[in-house]
Amino acid sequence: MTTIHQRLYINVDHVATIRQARRAAEPDPVAAAVACEAAGADGITAHLREDRRHIIDQDIDRLARTVTTVLNLEMANTPEMVEIALRVRPYQVTLVPERREEVTTEGGLDVTRDPAGLMATIARLQAAGILVSLFIDPDERMVRASRDLGTTALELHTGTYAHHPTDEMPRRALRMAAALGTSLGLHVHAGHGLTVANVGPVAAIPEIEELNIGHAIVGRAVFIGIAAAVREMRVAMDAARAST
Ligand code: PXP
Repeated sequence: MTTIHQRLYINVDHVATIRQARRAAEPDPVAAAVACEAAGADGITAHLREDRRHIIDQDIDRLARTVTTVLNLEMANTPEMVEIALRVRPYQVTLVPERREEVTTEGGLDVTRDPAGLMATIARLQAAGILVSLFIDPDERMVRASRDLGTTALELHTGTYAHHPTDEMPRRALRMAAALGTSLGLHVHAGHGLTVANVGPVAAIPEIEELNIGHAIVGRAVFIGIAAAVREMRVAMDAARAST
């Protein structure tokens, strides 16, 4: 069952966070993306936030031109972001909730709110050939509602698990949501708060095809370099999958 290769997409937002701390030119998230790909990343993820606090518009344009794997653009469902996605045409868009005052994406998208708006955006992006994934909490109602909106993929928010890695409840929620998503014909991704230390139980869930990991990679890169940080995560994922 665990024979499918689980993809590792690296989120380069926090390379840009360091750059923006000085409004400087470096470190460059595009150069980081190139290094991550060379180290074995299967894709590159970047979140263009409405406030442009880390990734800025030029980064997305440059990533789209430079990435040789695939680009996963995380964004809120706003008219501005949809126009950018339709212009840049990333391989995948992951729709996320966004609040200006949050430090990071704090919860999944409530896909039961404004279903007509979400459905219209999903259809427009798909018509342009872009894969759409919805970032949701591992909750049965959200998984079923995602399918009803016409998406082909969902990303399960692993934040609760990451905060309580030894509790059984969040692990069970992830396993059940992943199994349900697959049974409904959806591709299942996961991410948020994953580290080398806690990635194992998530990597071991057979239905999860893709992990999106950022903060821990950039944090480790300070000490061991970004290529080694990517490789270290890959090893942890493969070890967990091989042991199931
Ligand atoms: N997936 C989504 C949808 C996210 O919003 C984020 C954070 O930007 C991540 C994954 C990566 O989370 P982290 O930086 O904690 O690894």
